[in-house]
Amino acid sequence: MLTDKRILLIIGGGIAAFKSLELIRRLRERGAWVTPVLTRAGAEFVTPLSVSSLAGEKAYADLFDLTDEAEMGHIQLSRSADLIVVAPATADLMAKMAHGLANDLASTLLLATDTPVLVAPAMNVRMWEHPATRRNVSTLRGDGISFVGPNEGEMACGEYGPGRMSEPLEIVAAIEMALAEGPLTGRRVLVTSGPTHEPIDPVRYIANRSSGAQGTAIARALAVMGADVVFVTGPAEADRPEGAHIVEVETAAEMMAAVQSVMPVDAAVFAAAVADWRVASASDSKIKKNNGKIPTLDFAENPDILASVSQMGTGRPDLVVGFAAETDDVIANATAKRTRKQCDWIIANDVSPETGIMGGTENAVTLISDEGAETWPRMGKDEVAHQLASRIADALDA
Ligand code: C5P
Repeated sequence: MLTDKRILLIIGGGIAAFKSLELIRRLRERGAWVTPVLTRAGAEFVTPLSVSSLAGEKAYADLFDLTDEAEMGHIQLSRSADLIVVAPATADLMAKMAHGLANDLASTLLLATDTPVLVAPAMNVRMWEHPATRRNVSTLRGDGISFVGPNEGEMACGEYGPGRMSEPLEIVAAIEMALAEGPLTGRRVLVTSGPTHEPIDPVRYIANRSSGAQGTAIARALAVMGADVVFVTGPAEADRPEGAHIVEVETAAEMMAAVQSVMPVDAAVFAAAVADWRVASASDSKIKKNNGKIPTLDFAENPDILASVSQMGTGRPDLVVGFAAETDDVIANATAKRTRKQCDWIIANDVSPETGIMGGTENAVTLISDEGAETWPRMGKDEVAHQLASRIADALDA
């Protein structure tokens, strides 16, 4: 599966760098070409000679290596790979990546590249959990960078927790997934997910109930099939999908702006539970209790994101999929919604409390298209996502 794939392997400075030697061997066994790059600190842990011997290629170690006419320039080096893998990725290297610093060969390659990047972090648990690292990880995920690990376990420094670099075979599996060609390779797909929060004042908001679980599962399933996924999410508790470009928003108006800015896309799936109304004049300061006087809130209607994308003229996605969470007359209401909004498909589900679907792991849906209503058996949200992604792939191919 990795035959003739070109991997640019950046080895950062950490004790886990010794595992990169094994990683090179496993990749070579699978037919991949590995071009190693060592950071200055990485070269303190493993030598350029050992990595280049295993890789069968020159190991690049310094920006000035590339000034020689005979050498490949850093721009070309950064783009000649199918995938850049950073293993181990130290806290320092990830911070540089998140901030766009380019003061050595590794960080310059990472800034100059247009190739997908997979990062295998390795650091002390406190460093991994530090708010600065959390911010950097979330920035990098938002930039579409994929992560493998870190794993939890005993660290070289004697502490215990998340921070150990993934094992070489786990990294190989993540590389295989990142390079997997699927039916959606080359397609750009938007997924909205989660609730929106509409502020009343700085501490209060109105929202819909939504865990974001189904939207996340759909984004994951689309990415596994090779799609370039843009995931626009409100404040949801679900994990963010690996490998997708993530845009975090809070309100419906922000979600609308984010959706407009990511167009054009081949397909768009609107799984977000967008609040229908916002508070017309949200207060800038906390509304105080006022001797039993109950405040009244004026509402204004939020933009209907699904309807506006469905009704775009030029630049409309080839396939627009909406969701309909209903508690009564599910199919009739959802069918009417499809006509009203002018989307191609509606995924209707019954979210009556007795179904346990809201916030649960299962879903029972009906796909409504111009061919009628097709009810799928109750199944896991991951399975619904997988089936929907397959149907999307078929529809875009047709
Ligand atoms: O009208 P209703 O909210 O029930 O429609 C649900 C569908 O419309 C979902 O796909 C939801 O993501 C989308 N929607 C939207 N913008 C809104 C309201 C709903 O995109 N303001």
